[in-house]
Amino acid sequence: MDSSQKLKIGVIGCGHWGMNYLRVFSEIRESQLIGLLEPDAPRVAMALERFPAIRAYREMGALLAEADAVVVATPAATHYAVACQVLEAGKHLLVEKPITLEVGEAEALVALAQARKCVLMVGHTFLFNAGVTALKHYVESAEFGKAYYIHATRTNLGPIRKDVNAVWDLATHDISIANFVLGDEPVSVSAVGARFLGNAREDVAFITLHYPNNVLCNIHVSWADPNKVRRVTVVGSNQRIVFDDLDSLEPIRIFEKGVVPVQAEVDSFGEFKLLMRDGAIRSPKIEASEPLKNLCAHFLKCVALGQTPLTDGRHAVGIIRILKAIERSIQNGSAAEPVESPAASHAR
Ligand SMILES: NC(=O)c1ccc[n+]([C@@H]2O[C@H](COP(=O)([O-])OP(=O)(O)OC[C@H]3O[C@@H](n4cnc5c(N)ncnc54)[C@H](O)[C@@H]3O)[C@@H](O)[C@H]2O)c1
Repeated sequence: MDSSQKLKIGVIGCGHWGMNYLRVFSEIRESQLIGLLEPDAPRVAMALERFPAIRAYREMGALLAEADAVVVATPAATHYAVACQVLEAGKHLLVEKPITLEVGEAEALVALAQARKCVLMVGHTFLFNAGVTALKHYVESAEFGKAYYIHATRTNLGPIRKDVNAVWDLATHDISIANFVLGDEPVSVSAVGARFLGNAREDVAFITLHYPNNVLCNIHVSWADPNKVRRVTVVGSNQRIVFDDLDSLEPIRIFEKGVVPVQAEVDSFGEFKLLMRDGAIRSPKIEASEPLKNLCAHFLKCVALGQTPLTDGRHAVGIIRILKAIERSIQNGSAAEPVESPAASHAR
C-alpha cells in the first residue's frame, strides 16, 4: 500500500493519552499519521520531538481539510463540541471515552455520523484487551454455569481530573466491561459517592448495577486509595473467574468452584439445599497484545470495510445513560434509579 492510499490520521488533544495515539498510529503501517492539534505549546514541542515527520496544526479547519479520520483525546467535557466539528466535516471519528457528558449529545453525534456516513468509534479500550476478550469467552462457556454477579475494583492515588468525577473517569471502563461480558445492560442502579480529598467532585464511589435475570454488578472506584487495583471478578454457579489487568503473568484465573441451590428430594415445603462444586484453578495462556493498538487497528478495519465498530455509538450511549443514572442515585442519597431506556430518550 503506497502512502497516498493510506488513511490520513490527525490527533486532537495530545496530553497523556493523546501521546499514546500518536505513538500507536505512527507504528501502524495501514495508516499515515499526518499531525496533531494541541493548544499547549510545551506538549506540542514534546510531540514534535518524538514524531518529527508530523505537522502541528494551529486550527482545526486546516487539520480537517487534510485528514481522513480524526482521534479526539481532549478532556471529556470538550468531546461533544470537538466531535461535532469532526463529523460535520465528514471525517471518520475515534473519540475517547466517555463519548459526551449528556445522553442527548451522544445521540446527536450518533445521528450526525449516520447522516455523514462516517464511522464513529469510542475509545472503550478494555474491550480490546485480550484478558477481557478471554473473560467473556469463559463466562459464555457452558462450564461457567449461570452468572450470579460481577465485582470490579479500580483504585489508585489519582490521577484526579478537573472536568469529571471518579465515576465518569474510572467506572466507565467497568460498565463497558460488564455490559460486554454479560451481553446486556443494567435496568437500574444505586450508588454512593464521597469527596475525601476536598475535590469539587466525587473521588470515591461504590456502585451497584442491576442487570436483567437477577444479575448484579458492584463497582468500586477510587482516586484516594494508595493501592492500585484493576480487577474484575465474575462469580457464576460453577466457576469464579478473575481478570487482573495488573497481573501480566496470569491475567485470567478460573476457579472451578461454585455453588447451586437444589431442591431437597423429600422436602415438600420448597426448601433448598446447596450443592457445592470444587475443582482446579486454571490460568489459561493469554497472548500479550497492546489494547490501544488493537483498538486502533479495529478502527482502521471498520473504516476500510464500512463495518460497525465493537465500541460504536450504541455501546457508548448506553454507558452515558448508566452514568447519568449513577449521578442521580448519588445525588438522591443512593436511591435506586432506573436506567433510561433508549425509547424514553427518543420520546423526549
Ligand atoms: N481509554 C482509556 O483507557 C483512557 C485512558 C486515559 C485517558 N482517556 C481519555 O482520554 C481523554 C484525555 O485524557 P488525558 O489523560 O490525555 O488528559 P490530558 O489532560 O492529559 O490531555 C488532554 C489534552 O487535550 C488538550 N485540549 C483541551 N482542549 C482541547 C481542544 N479543544 N482542542 C485540542 N486540544 C485540547 C489539552 O491541552 C491537553 O493536552 C479523556 O477523555 C480521558 O477520559 C482514556
